[in-house]
Amino acid sequence: MIYLTRVEHFNAAHKLYNPEWEREKNEEIFGKCANENWHGHNYELFVTIKGEVNNETGFLFDAKKLSRLIKEHVLDKLDHKNLNVDVAFLQNKLCSTENIAKAIWQQLVPYLPQPVQLHCIKLYETPRIYVEYFGPDSYRDRTFLYND
Ligand code: NI
Repeated sequence: MIYLTRVEHFNAAHKLYNPEWEREKNEEIFGKCANENWHGHNYELFVTIKGEVNNETGFLFDAKKLSRLIKEHVLDKLDHKNLNVDVAFLQNKLCSTENIAKAIWQQLVPYLPQPVQLHCIKLYETPRIYVEYFGPDSYRDRTFLYND
């Protein structure tokens, strides 16, 4: 098994706000991220895929192709956008880094041909805070079938 990571970057605005709570509770839970008039982050995105090296190419997967997939299905939809308002695949979701990472996974996973598998979406919200998502349990269980 070998792993390949593509690093990407996007800027976006958001706010964290649960519409079922009063404003005070939102401010208590989310702090500055509840700011009504939005704020921005410089997100760093690490997309890691895994699989076996193809004997004919020496590649796990064409890194340029991976870059194009990320651009088309993720970056073009998120970069310089308001995540709460502009992004169809984040509608009705709390735009936390956790939920954004999970949504990015869902955006990419249909486009990776077997036997290449998505391994991890790692998303930095700030240089000191990041999340890692390794997919739903069902995907990881399936993954074990391909491991030696
Ligand atoms: Ni924020």
